[in-house]
Amino acid sequence: MKFLAGLALAVAAAQAHYTFPDLIVNGKPAQSKDWGVTRMTKNAQSKQGIENPTASDIRCYSSQSAGSIAEVPAGATIHYISTQQVNHPGPTQYYLAKVPSGGSASSWDGSGAVWFKIATTMPTYDARQQLTWPGQNEYKTVNITVPKATPDGEYLLRVEHIALHMAMQANKAQFYLACSQIKITGGGNGTPGPMASFPGAYKSSDPGILVNLGAIKPEQYQPPGPAVWSG
Ligand SMILES: *[C@@H]1O[C@H](CO)[C@@H](O)[C@H](O)[C@H]1NC(C)=O
Repeated sequence: MKFLAGLALAVAAAQAHYTFPDLIVNGKPAQSKDWGVTRMTKNAQSKQGIENPTASDIRCYSSQSAGSIAEVPAGATIHYISTQQVNHPGPTQYYLAKVPSGGSASSWDGSGAVWFKIATTMPTYDARQQLTWPGQNEYKTVNITVPKATPDGEYLLRVEHIALHMAMQANKAQFYLACSQIKITGGGNGTPGPMASFPGAYKSSDPGILVNLGAIKPEQYQPPGPAVWSG
């Protein structure tokens, strides 16, 4: 009995975790199979999040490339399908990093201070006065718009959901993320920034990472990382 109860708990915990194998662009899948344009993450089977925001895995959580590059028009609405319900409270953030000239989104590693944030989400109170975020309890991430002013070219697109239900303890926020290989078309002449590196953008003690959600008001939440560039 004891063993079975433990097993049931373990299964429940595993189901609470998630990956983002599919990118949706303007309502259409950008790939014909899971991980077609998104680099398969190391937790594709385990679904475990990353707890150390300074680990090298915080960049893309992957050790391989995806087979294809997705075309994404600047100004497009995008989101990801999640393998499980994104049931924990916490922000969803999206970043882009432009592939250096001569490189390819299929092979570039995304190193250096090259990442700019294009979207984040802020909480509100739910019916029980607990902090809840857009997209919480859905099987997909929130919709965002790729800024129209983003210059054309190949990029890595990084999606991230930070689960904060245990974040009152250091290194207990859980990072779920993935990087897709994309090519932006029809873009503009914007100058994206500020830039950050992964690892480097986050510290374990950042107020958006080490945080007791019961002790703050929704507007007091500070999403970690650089300010959003909206074009
Ligand atoms: C998100 O975008 C898709 C198209 O990509 C659209 O069908 C859907 O209604 C949008 N959802 C929300 C909540 O705006």
